[in-house]
Amino acid sequence: MPAWLESAVFYQIYPQSFRDANGDGIGDLRGIISRLPYLRDLGVTALWLNPCFVSPFRDAGYDVADFYRVAPRYGTNRDLRALFAAARAHGLRVILDLVAGHTSNEHPWFRESCRAERDARSDWYVWTDSVWTRSGLDQPVVAGYAARNGNYVPNFFWFQPALNYGYARPDPRRPWQQPAGAPGPRAVRAELRAIMRHWLDLGAAGFRVDMAGSLVKNDPGGRATAALWRGVRAWLDRAYPEAVLVSEWSDPAVAVPGGFHADFLLPFNKPGFTSLFRRTRPADTPYLDRSGRGRIRPFLEEFLPLLAATRGRGFLALPSGNHDAGPRLGTGRDARDLAVAFALLLTLPAVPFIYYGDEIGMRSVEGLPSKEGGYARTAVRTPMQWDASPNAGFSAAPAGRLYLPIDPAPDRPTVAAQEADPASVLQAVRRLIAVRRAHPALGAGGGFAPVLATGGRAPFVYRRTAPGEAILVALNPGGKPCTARLPRGAVAGPPRILAGEPGALRRERGGWRVRLPAIAYAVAATGR
Ligand code: NOJ
Ligand code: CA
Repeated sequence: MPAWLESAVFYQIYPQSFRDANGDGIGDLRGIISRLPYLRDLGVTALWLNPCFVSPFRDAGYDVADFYRVAPRYGTNRDLRALFAAARAHGLRVILDLVAGHTSNEHPWFRESCRAERDARSDWYVWTDSVWTRSGLDQPVVAGYAARNGNYVPNFFWFQPALNYGYARPDPRRPWQQPAGAPGPRAVRAELRAIMRHWLDLGAAGFRVDMAGSLVKNDPGGRATAALWRGVRAWLDRAYPEAVLVSEWSDPAVAVPGGFHADFLLPFNKPGFTSLFRRTRPADTPYLDRSGRGRIRPFLEEFLPLLAATRGRGFLALPSGNHDAGPRLGTGRDARDLAVAFALLLTLPAVPFIYYGDEIGMRSVEGLPSKEGGYARTAVRTPMQWDASPNAGFSAAPAGRLYLPIDPAPDRPTVAAQEADPASVLQAVRRLIAVRRAHPALGAGGGFAPVLATGGRAPFVYRRTAPGEAILVALNPGGKPCTARLPRGAVAGPPRILAGEPGALRRERGGWRVRLPAIAYAVAATGR
């Protein structure tokens, strides 16, 4: 386990929307390099870049056409290398997005695979043995696309053909379902490592793996896919022990024993992540809500077992948002609400990922036409808002030539305005990151025990611990003040407030009471 991950705070950059250095209307690598001082001052320790490789961009770059080359619209391989080096000089590591499960239909491998005659790539994708054959599983196929007499299995959109990692339980009546040990899947696995090696050698610090659980088909419980990743991990441990693997699997109890250092809590399948910040169903209130009707229980009921299942082996990764999940955290929340949200995100025992712009409370921009396969997701992908200059400082291009329009709201948040405002969410996030980094108890691997999670109007209080250190966190997202008596032992020594409400903890008849005003939090060192 690379030691740096334990205390890491990640920042996710959607490259097309972060900063445009050459004025063509789209974000680029030089633009990211120019904003490294901002990221260093924010205090984050690592960056995750969404795919930045050659692509027809029908799914924003998740349709890769050359895994070894940076998309010209973002720059060159040299620029990416320069970014790795400049980031390191600012104390930041950079992980890339590894789209392991599929390629673009325009990838040369797939084009070769489409030929009627057999060739070196015929078995690199999952093909049935005739255009009249369905997959035989609950799995769509694309029929009639190629000269080849067969249908291919798409992994996501139709133009993202699934690479062939084989079937965990190949159906003997369908010999085109190859076992994972067949030559095609073996060659694809070797290529996957070659891609990883290429970028690690150039300075990448690891990968966020797209749809990591999707590789081996008909794989109940993800067992064969996990075995595949364990092999990758064993190799990494030997060859690149500092590199991290973070999965988009959304099943940490499988992904972490399967070799990933961390797995994201995401909206798929499970309601826990959504229940914190977003409405799971129209009738539900998220925990972070002014009404005070939100409950922390649904989150804890999911989180605690996952924590137990991954403890000592890896971490949970908790994002403020991402390029797929809407609405943005900042939608419908002001600076105070957001400070409470970040107090939670940055003090839970998980690796926090801040989605670009969430640290200033950027809001979803609804009603945009779909861009590059974004559909509803387009709302959370608009350009970063830097300052009050044209295009919010994102680009010098004419507004009509921007990749996506800037949030038109007259009161849209910007970095520059929040730098100057001590009550801004940006300042709160900076403070909270600094506190997290200064205290091992707050790291992803520190101890975690809920102290008060009763719900109602009571604050949510928990303890974080590390050898020689105990920290108490108390949250009140509701619009009314709240107070509660703390159980004996919750506060071991005289408390020292590290962030948030200075008067949150008071001594009372031999015990301690927590008292929070409306929409407030406190992080306090409380002895050992
Ligand atoms: C998950 C990515 O986050 C999403 O943006 C993409 O469309 C799919 N995987 C397909 O690669
Ligand atoms: Ca550009």
